[in-house]
Amino acid sequence: MTRRWLVTGCSSGLGAALAKAVAASGDTVLATARKPATLDALATAHPDMVRVAALDVRDPDSCAAAVRAAEEQLGGIDVLVNNAATGLLGAVEEVSDEELREQLEILVVAPWRLARLALPGMRARGSGHIVNVSSLAGRVSFPGMGAYVAGKHALEGMTQALAAEVEPFGIRVTALEPGGFATRYGVTAADTAVRIPAYRGAAVDETRDGVRGMTDNPVLGRPEDFAALVLRLVATPDTPQRVPVGADAYQYLEAIHGHSGTELATARAFAEGA
Ligand SMILES: NC(=O)c1ccc[n+]([C@@H]2O[C@H](COP(=O)([O-])OP(=O)(O)OC[C@H]3O[C@@H](n4cnc5c(N)ncnc54)[C@H](OP(=O)(O)O)[C@@H]3O)[C@@H](O)[C@H]2O)c1
Repeated sequence: MTRRWLVTGCSSGLGAALAKAVAASGDTVLATARKPATLDALATAHPDMVRVAALDVRDPDSCAAAVRAAEEQLGGIDVLVNNAATGLLGAVEEVSDEELREQLEILVVAPWRLARLALPGMRARGSGHIVNVSSLAGRVSFPGMGAYVAGKHALEGMTQALAAEVEPFGIRVTALEPGGFATRYGVTAADTAVRIPAYRGAAVDETRDGVRGMTDNPVLGRPEDFAALVLRLVATPDTPQRVPVGADAYQYLEAIHGHSGTELATARAFAEGA
């Protein structure tokens, strides 16, 4: 069975690897990017499988046009992958209202909007799969990236609500939680405009250094392995709703799971005293 995909953020990293793997698998894909010229090589390599569209996920008209293009050029969307994102690095106190809005716009509003646009076609066909690329930061928190963590946690909350809502229509919704993968995320993540000296040289900067060190770091996961996992996930019925991606993500969550149990037990005296 072949599938028709719409993937956001295909110019680099996980999205680029996924679009390439989808095309190589024999499925068709509307590969999207803010600068569609970045997808020329992909389209040339797979002329029958790849269609290309400009998409800035922050722009509602651009989102509507991309979904329309997928429906017209591919005949529908079987798999929507909300992958595009940027990060914001800085302490909670350093993040302005505007920076927070921008971060939530790309991490929450945009995937929400694209899901809303793709769902009528999926409901009409009685099938579909929405894959939201979240993060380990959608399950646990890290100092120095509170806005990103907030956005990915919100995306996971939305994923779980939506999954329950559309399951009766034959539609699946999954949140993927990558650990560390060697992409451009480390360079594209922005710093807050305000830098408060009190936070320098501590946990906030350790996170910043860790993220900056991710760029093309060979000890991290390979985007090709992420792409292979997504193909396997979509082809496998009854997968978990929230899927850690990479051994590091799994081990981290396993450790945190034990910690959460201890934390819950500690909170019992407070909870039951209410
Ligand atoms: N790498 C990791 O370790 C890691 C870990 C956990 C989660 N993730 C998640 O994985 C996803 C992919 O990130 P990545 O690691 O592959 O980083 P990346 O190499 O920086 O890729 C991000 C992609 O998003 C696109 N993008 C950014 N803003 C956009 C916008 N407004 N409209 C459309 N596209 C936009 C970028 O395109 P431009 O070229 O136009 O900027 C690029 O194609 C993100 O959701 C990220 O949060 C990554």
